[in-house]
Parts: sequence; structure tokens; C-alpha cells
Amino acid sequence: MSDYVWFEGIPFYGIFFKKEIIKECHDKFVIRDEDTVILTYPKSGTNWIIETVCLIQTKGNPKWLQSVPIWERSPWIETPQGYSLLMNKEGPRLITSHLPINLFPKSIFSSKAKVIYVIRNPRDVLVSGFFYYGKKNFMKNPVSLGTYIEWFLKGNVIYGSWFEHTRAWLSMRKRDNFLLLSYEDMKKDTRRTIEKICDFLGKKLEPDEIDLIINYSSLQAMKENKMSHLSLIPQDVNTNPSVLMRKGIVGDWKNHFTVAQAEAFGKVFQEKMAGFPPGLFPWE
Ligand code: A3P
Repeated sequence: MSDYVWFEGIPFYGIFFKKEIIKECHDKFVIRDEDTVILTYPKSGTNWIIETVCLIQTKGNPKWLQSVPIWERSPWIETPQGYSLLMNKEGPRLITSHLPINLFPKSIFSSKAKVIYVIRNPRDVLVSGFFYYGKKNFMKNPVSLGTYIEWFLKGNVIYGSWFEHTRAWLSMRKRDNFLLLSYEDMKKDTRRTIEKICDFLGKKLEPDEIDLIINYSSLQAMKENKMSHLSLIPQDVNTNPSVLMRKGIVGDWKNHFTVAQAEAFGKVFQEKMAGFPPGLFPWE
């Protein structure tokens, strides 16, 4: 996979990432107790949760998210640009990352920062990634869904194995400063999820403020807000910006997997995720 930069066995896009930054980020970046960290495996609804958390901070006022790009409001710590923005920002920060736990700043383990981890059915993550990465010209494109499933199951995809990412971050789930959310629950009951995040962050919002958040973080509103997607990134890098907000539904994988692919995936899921309590994964 020549288009990737590999670091500690994990592939990153060569065009955006630098090994030295990822290493420095792991070794030296200090997560402050007053920070809020949004963690996801890519394609799990990261941008939706960032938008929601931003709107919670502004009590539903959309001005901030309509005037500042999403990657400046909650920078991705592992990117050179995000790293430098975060290093230079004073006070409480919103930090986004897709890093697996072993590459994330090690200061997280002694920090009281609030951590929000969002999971999504890996089959939907896979399909979302297939359509998203298949349209980009900055990395190797999968030729077919079958090939991409093979890469995904082996962890030969951007940010590595979903299974390892999820297993490792879920080991933190009993900590008081860790909130586990799922894309499926956010879709099923958006208001309840927003209330959960508010409780976790210690924010008290009125019902009409929550209505505003639901409205401004909807798929349609995010499609229309050019600060919420990647259309500001140069076209030669980002060939199809609208794909970031694609279908936004639960269970699209059923439209794409063959019966044999679904069975093979299910078997690997059972093996790799054994030991977690029933009900933890709302899609199983
Ligand atoms: P699909 O490709 O299945 O539609 P990420 O932000 O982690 O890259 O995740 C992208 C996925 O989240 C895409 O899934 C996208 O459509 C979905 N998404 C983005 N904004 C959303 C929103 N406001 N509501 C529901 N889903 C959203």
C-alpha cells in the first residue's frame, strides 16, 4: 500500500500525516483536565458528534459552526495542522481523534478530561468507508467491496483494525470521565443522546435549546453548512466532498453485503469481540 505512511503497524494517508507528529503527539501532548475529547474509529459519525458537542457549547446557536470549519472547532490531534492548533490554544479545548489507544497521547491515562467514544456497527462503518475512500485520490482505492472487506477484516485500512480500536478503547468504559455512545442510539433517539452528553459535560440546557441542536446537527443542515464538511479542502485532494454526509442511515450494509460476506463478517466479529457483555453493541 504505497499511498500510506505506516506507523507502529497502522496505515495513515501519506498526504496528511507525518510520523514525527504522531510520535510527538503520543509522547508529549498533554491532555488537560478541562479538555473534551471526541474519539471514534473513522466513519462512525465523528462529524455529527462534533457538530452536536459544538452546539451544546453554544446552547443551540449556530453562529460558531457556520463561521468556523469543523476541523478548527475540534481539531484532529494527529494531523499536523490540528496538532499545532491545539498546542497553541489556551483554555478548555475540543479535541478529535481517530487514533487507536496505543498511539493516543499517553497523558490521557492520568487526565480527568471528558472522553466521548462513539461506536457504530462495523458493517456500516465498512460500507461508509468503502464509498468515502473509493472517491478519494489521495489513497489506494479498493476495487470492489469484497476486496475492501478483506482489507477491513485484516486491519489493512486507514487507522488499522476496527476490532482492535474498539476493544482497546472500550477497556476505559467504566471510568467516570468516559462516555460511550453509539451511532445507532443517536439515530434512534437523538434528543436522549444529546441529554446524555449534556449530563456528562455538566451542561444544563432548555428543551427549546435541544430542539435547535437537533435541527442544526441534522444530516440536511450539515450538508448545507459548508463549514461542516470537507468542501473547503482543495479539490485535487478531496475529489468528492459531499460523500462525507452520504446516506446517514442504520443498516445500509444489508444493501451491499452478500449472504456469504455477512456470514464471514459475523464469524470474525464473534471471535474478535468475544467477552463483551450482551447488549453493549446495539446492532447485534
Ligand atoms: P454513511 O456513509 O453511512 O452515510 P464520520 O463523520 O465519522 O466520517 O462518519 C460519516 C458517516 O456519518 C456517514 O455515514 C455520514 O452520512 C454520517 N453522518 C454525518 N453527519 C450525520 C448526521 N448529521 N446525521 C446522521 N448521520 C450523519
